[in-house]
Amino acid sequence: MSDHLLSLRRVSCNYGAVQALNDVHLKVDAGEIVTLIGANGAGKSTTLKAIVGLLRPEAGEILFEGNSLLRIPTHKIAAMGIALVPEGRAVFANLSVLENLEMGGYLRNTAEIRQGLEYVFALFPRLQERIKQVAGTLSGGEQQMLAIGRALMAKPRLLLLDEPSLGIAPLLVKSIYEAIDAINREGVTILVVEQNAHLALKHSHRAYVLETGRVVMEGSSRELENDPRVKEAYLGEV
Ligand SMILES: Nc1ncnc2c1ncn2[C@@H]1O[C@H](COP(=O)(O)OP(=O)(O)OP(=O)(O)O)[C@@H](O)[C@H]1O
Ligand SMILES: [Mg+2]
Repeated sequence: MSDHLLSLRRVSCNYGAVQALNDVHLKVDAGEIVTLIGANGAGKSTTLKAIVGLLRPEAGEILFEGNSLLRIPTHKIAAMGIALVPEGRAVFANLSVLENLEMGGYLRNTAEIRQGLEYVFALFPRLQERIKQVAGTLSGGEQQMLAIGRALMAKPRLLLLDEPSLGIAPLLVKSIYEAIDAINREGVTILVVEQNAHLALKHSHRAYVLETGRVVMEGSSRELENDPRVKEAYLGEV
């Protein structure tokens, strides 16, 4: 038995001849914000895909509350309480903000959907102002808010976020990360993947650094922020 909410043990994943993850280990405890940082192609998205079963590891183990996820279909993993907000904020472009959010709550009853909507609108008032707007016409940052909101409609215990800051105006990035902190304070555990190491370390408790499919460093985010190797390679400081 493992007492971590999520743990990856010696996970390896390939795309054909390309080895994307090599013996990756990682754990996330209930209540934490953990970040996985690394450059383009390091294997960050692959790690999240493996957790939700979109990609199956060649080797290793992935446990959620001590139970293996390796043979569980993706939709059941979602029903167990894990939600992924994928890279590039995949909202339904032709559906309205409200319809997108309702889709996220498809496993829940009417009263729960109503509560979910209230919660998401309190977190992102911009979405409430645009409730009837077609999602494809929202700004990049608003689409990211919608993608996070939709994931929250399922009331996940573990939220996986893939580069929530990518391609978004700085002001909206700030409100998205403030929302991530608020979601965590409400008791949702978060694993966030980022290329923007500065931001990710500032808004997390612990961190892992991934380089070409391997975990090369790990520790508290405060420690890593001050580590000379991290400063040089990821924070643009010498
Ligand atoms: N569908 C695929 N087919 C073949 N190779 C892939 C596929 N998806 C990813 N890869 C390769 O696997 C490696 C890890 O990719 P991954 O998308 O996990 O990186 P990442 O850390 O998320 O990068 P980025 O910051 O650019 O999103 C890369 O070398 C990538 O080229
Ligand atoms: Mg990626």
